[in-house]
Amino acid sequence: MSFSKAFRPKIIQGGMGVNISNWHLAKAVSMLGQLGTVSGVAFERIFARILQRGDPGGHLRRALSHFPFPEHVARVLEAFYVEGGIPPNTAFKATPVFSTNPSSLLISLTVCANFALVWLAKEGHSNPVSINYLEKVALPHVYAITGAIFAGVDFVTMGAGIPLQIPEVINAVAEGRVVKYRVPVEGKNITSYEMSFNPERFFGGRPLSVIKPGFIPIIASNLLATILMKRLPEGSIDGFVIEEPTAGGHNAPPRKGGVYGEKDLVDYSKIASLGLPFWIGGSYASPEKLKWTLEIGASGIQVGSIFALCEQSGMDNGLRRRIRKLGFEGKLNIRTDIVFSSTGFPFKIVELEGTLSNRNVYEARERRCDQGVLVTLFEREDGSIGSRCPAEPVEKFVPKGGNEKDAVDRGCLCNALISTAGFGDEKEPPVVTLGDDVSFLPHLMASGDGFYGAEDAVNYLLGTK
Ligand SMILES: Cc1cc2nc3c(=O)[nH]c(=O)nc-3n(C[C@H](O)[C@H](O)[C@H](O)COP(=O)(O)O)c2cc1C
Repeated sequence: MSFSKAFRPKIIQGGMGVNISNWHLAKAVSMLGQLGTVSGVAFERIFARILQRGDPGGHLRRALSHFPFPEHVARVLEAFYVEGGIPPNTAFKATPVFSTNPSSLLISLTVCANFALVWLAKEGHSNPVSINYLEKVALPHVYAITGAIFAGVDFVTMGAGIPLQIPEVINAVAEGRVVKYRVPVEGKNITSYEMSFNPERFFGGRPLSVIKPGFIPIIASNLLATILMKRLPEGSIDGFVIEEPTAGGHNAPPRKGGVYGEKDLVDYSKIASLGLPFWIGGSYASPEKLKWTLEIGASGIQVGSIFALCEQSGMDNGLRRRIRKLGFEGKLNIRTDIVFSSTGFPFKIVELEGTLSNRNVYEARERRCDQGVLVTLFEREDGSIGSRCPAEPVEKFVPKGGNEKDAVDRGCLCNALISTAGFGDEKEPPVVTLGDDVSFLPHLMASGDGFYGAEDAVNYLLGTK
């Protein structure tokens, strides 16, 4: 799929992990004629937990009944589905963690999860839907993208890294070839490890039809746009999202001196001269900002926070309600934390009682690493490859060659974001990310206790309300 006169949305609803951009939200936005995006980041973990809660409404099982290889669905359901759901306050069963050699169950789970996510966002309409991944969360790419493409995803959007390998991943899945992704390894002799997935061999066949989705890198500089255009074959990129440093989630690091300044400003006339459609994100959720982007030659905006706080988003309802109220009253503080995320990228954190933004809550949490989404690969002395994360227990991180200083003030985003989506383990406090700007709230709610839906947000942005 590529952008045409027939489909050139003014609004891209940003991919927001973990499960903030769920299928309800993406479907609602796509049905309104804009581009809805589901978040594929760590979705296999949410998927396994929805199944353990009994798959309320039967949505996942309905989607999976369309998966072309039913024996893989059967093994996933056998492993995770609990009829009627696990009793309240019962721990979830552990989901296998990715490594260079993931178990075959984890592969089936990941392909099925991404398939179901896209299938549900596309159910009941024929408008395009995209899926978002973070480049840095690289071990699942070959499996996750396969599942999304099998379900007919229309676009893949990707930020948090330099996604030079993604167009070839997309082509390989679409053409039924072996799918490969080189994941960086920190080491003296080994610098990368190639994840390789042969879907035809794994599933014992090919789906009847597979359509190649478009690709939209999410970037923060003219330089990266130029690198991607120069190094990728023509036609690999269908458009760009340019994200400014006030955007929610992870941000590109400042180019100079640890603070954002002139060097971080994007020259949009240069982006326009590349000849591809582009959207601008980061505090652009207003009709005036949308108008401005159109005037300078962009196709529109990518917005996240306005959708993260709407009724269809996957954010825990209690957190969403509290944040909307604080935001409405002008009492919401959001900081850019340079160390919290193990990715090494700055990360926006909402200051909110009872979440990891609070020092006491942060310190009371016992470090553990049982999701492993943000691990880095490293070369062991014996030449084998291990994985580590600066947010794991220090006594485990340091013997793996991790620098003790790197562990200071790191937070476990994996568990915290799963909690923010309402699927956390009881002991795991949430953490909420949001962009700097929530000035849209008074336009959408009459009081701090109000609420709004995706349609209200779209109407407000388009000025059709
Ligand atoms: C809760 C939340 C989670 C996010 N997670 C991701 C993510 O997983 N991947 C990504 O590319 N961008 C992520 N973003 C960025 C959004 O997709 C979007 O670009 C950004 O929010 C735009 O800025 P705004 O929030 O000011 O509208 C996230 C943003 C929010 C608010």
